[in-house]
Amino acid sequence: MDRIRIVGGNALNGVIPISGAKNAALPLMIASLMTDDTLTLENVPHLADVEQLIRILGNHGVDYSVNGRRVRQDQGYSRTIHFTARNIVTTTAPYELVSKMRASFWVIGPLLARMGVARVSLPGGCAIGTRPVDLFIDGLRALGAEIDIDSGYVDARAPKGRLVGNRYVFPKVSVGATHVLMMAAALAKGETVLENAAREPEIVNLADCLNAMGARITGAGTETIHIDGVDHLSGARLAVIPDRIETGTYAMAVAMTGGDVLLEGARADLLDSALDAIRATGAEVTPVNSGIRVHRNGSGIRPVDVTTEPYPGFPTDLQAQFMGLMTMAKGRSHITETIFENRFMHVQELARLGAKISLSGQTAIVDGVDHLKGAPVMATDLRASVSLVIAGLAAEGETVVHRVYHLDRGFERLEEKLSRCGAQIDRLSE
Ligand code: EPZ
Repeated sequence: MDRIRIVGGNALNGVIPISGAKNAALPLMIASLMTDDTLTLENVPHLADVEQLIRILGNHGVDYSVNGRRVRQDQGYSRTIHFTARNIVTTTAPYELVSKMRASFWVIGPLLARMGVARVSLPGGCAIGTRPVDLFIDGLRALGAEIDIDSGYVDARAPKGRLVGNRYVFPKVSVGATHVLMMAAALAKGETVLENAAREPEIVNLADCLNAMGARITGAGTETIHIDGVDHLSGARLAVIPDRIETGTYAMAVAMTGGDVLLEGARADLLDSALDAIRATGAEVTPVNSGIRVHRNGSGIRPVDVTTEPYPGFPTDLQAQFMGLMTMAKGRSHITETIFENRFMHVQELARLGAKISLSGQTAIVDGVDHLKGAPVMATDLRASVSLVIAGLAAEGETVVHRVYHLDRGFERLEEKLSRCGAQIDRLSE
């Protein structure tokens, strides 16, 4: 299994191109199931999760091409991919595929909307918490679906073959359930109103995509979304938004190592709360025409408290990275996780580098240290692994990060982007 080796201590200087957002690309790709026309997506990142979803969509009959060719593993940065679901060959998403990536459960919305029936495996456990699917089921039932849970599968049917618009109030904010209900309602009969909907920029990207395909959706990005169901969706062309989590991750890396980096193509308006937190640590963060410039000179890192919240609050997907940064702050900080109940797996690994962190319920108390020291570390999820990379960049000596496949799920060409800015980082393949 590949590992990443980092020799820490270098400041980062240069340009890092920001890729298309994984968490926007996945629902847009899933939306291709909703039409027999071609959906062309630009700026799709080259990531293991994208490749996995291509396989899952292929199971349902979605054909894809990259500039007329099949996707090849060795192709470079974000690219344009054409997806065509001329015929849906099966409405079953099997356990073997769904269990590899939770977001593949989201095919339930488009399949039910277009075919009137879907049988999708429950996604199962996950390293960052139990992550149930009750909101998806309640919401789809509100649109008229009849749903049974049978042998680990969700069996859903739309009576008379079509969902029916309704008002649904999410009891809890959920990104995935908002994506799914928006897709399901786009082809339902009549009007749907979703209240307490997620407001993430990825929701807006999906609504823009569905509208470009002929849907009638307003209010995405606010907590109330109106959807006027249509009979049919057609093809469209749309770009995936830049990855706000990748942006915040590299900004935090610079805030930790010092240096001066342009995050090329990044959009500051997608991560205001995280950028405010980074500024509060003492780094300069400046939106410029071509992206965001992050700069920190030799001054110390100030401790800053953060609490994760649904958008526009501080994102849970940047919590581990911010904790990495706080391990070297000049004082104590508190980091509270409110979205997932078990998202502190990085704490014990950061401790291996010399960090001083204690847990009290859902809050991590971080006492900054003057130095971290390199060590072998291992991570259990995507964002936790990248927090170890950030800490390794600032630590003295060598850090080896094991289980790199987590990083490959969500960070395009991480080693290359960082080493071009002066980091000593390389991949060890066995
Ligand atoms: C999305 O996951 C992201 N994934 C996650 O990013 C991100 O951490 C999360 O949103 C929160 O921002 C993708 O976009 C592919 P939720 P999602 O439904 O949609 C509970 C990463 O590292 N809940 O908004 O699965 C749930 O357990 C990943 O890129 C229910 O209780 O998250 C959680 O506590 C990890 N019942 C909360 O809601 C449900 O039916 C928010 O989860 C659904 C969710």
